[in-house]
Amino acid sequence: MDQPFEIQPGDLDGLPIRAQALLAGQRDAVANAANLSSLLFHTFEQVNWVGFYFLRGDRLVVGPFQGKPACVTIPLGRGVCGTAAATRQVQRVGDVHAFAGHIACDADSRSEIVVPLVHEGRLLGVLDLDSPLVGRFGEQDERLLVAIADIYVRSADWPDGW
Ligand code: SME
Repeated sequence: MDQPFEIQPGDLDGLPIRAQALLAGQRDAVANAANLSSLLFHTFEQVNWVGFYFLRGDRLVVGPFQGKPACVTIPLGRGVCGTAAATRQVQRVGDVHAFAGHIACDADSRSEIVVPLVHEGRLLGVLDLDSPLVGRFGEQDERLLVAIADIYVRSADWPDGW
């Protein structure tokens, strides 16, 4: 990307094509995570945190994000992110206060969705979105974010030991 990128707040239908266009021509996983977290943050309405955690050994470490400063490391199996990573299943939590073990980084967060990032059977990390609204994320958001996570994983190179 070498010119201003047009963002359409609320245009979820156009998001996959915009994401493809934004990440095209760049294979760096950090660069693409940074730009994608910005695109998601400015396209999804009513979100207060959007970003990445990457697997480093047996824990997740925060990557590029938009929002307030976040917890740096999350052990696998802990919180919503660690659960998504350990189970490799999307975690869509309507009320984080009702999720045992939820890790509160931003007190504004009331609902959350976390999508595991898996490439050729290898767990790379998770994509995490938080909202200040209870029940913000529905099935359609989940399908969309699974597709976006796939676009992201395919956009970058994942050398051994990354
Ligand atoms: N709430 C997450 C922690 C990460 S932040 O929301 C940015 C969790 O329970 O894993």
